[in-house]
Amino acid sequence: MSADLDSARLDELAEGIRICERCPLHLGRRHAVPGEGGFRLHCLLVGEAPGQREDEVGRPFIGRTGAFLDRFLVPFGLSRDDFFITSSVKCRPPGNRAPKPLEMDICREAWLLPQIQALKPRLVVLMGNAPIRSLLGVRTPMNELHGKLRQHSGLSMLPTYHPTAAMRFPAVRRLAEADWETIRTLLRP
Ligand code: URA
Repeated sequence: MSADLDSARLDELAEGIRICERCPLHLGRRHAVPGEGGFRLHCLLVGEAPGQREDEVGRPFIGRTGAFLDRFLVPFGLSRDDFFITSSVKCRPPGNRAPKPLEMDICREAWLLPQIQALKPRLVVLMGNAPIRSLLGVRTPMNELHGKLRQHSGLSMLPTYHPTAAMRFPAVRRLAEADWETIRTLLRP
């Protein structure tokens, strides 16, 4: 981890997330998933919600989508360990449905924004509709938002497609690759 992030505060938040009962999602979860990562690039990746495998283990992006993300980042000279990675909600929604606005609001105020305060990222990559709604507060279609840097609430944020969509649809994958070319350029020292 880099020197200027508040890792004690991040650990404290992770402990809180693991026992959180603030929204109904806690009723169906096995493990909450606080997030993790190396943060070499001072960049935070925010996904949608933990899936089945993440819920079983309590770690982000370790199922099929995570394996895809690992492979996807290689041509950019990037690795997931370069990033702190978390999701817009920390508990798996039943049947992997999309997180509801109230669940995202509760999780953002209690956990995601405090994590961002502790990390002080220079770039937040919003992967999918849920983090875009949660952190940018818009429902604009992805094809209008992706790949464009936005300044919001004192943060630099870049919306892009969720890796699951890039994994399933070759056309989305090509768009996501262009977005990640932009991200790589933005993160260049
Ligand atoms: N999708 C997410 O958004 N987060 C995970 O942890 C896994 C899949």
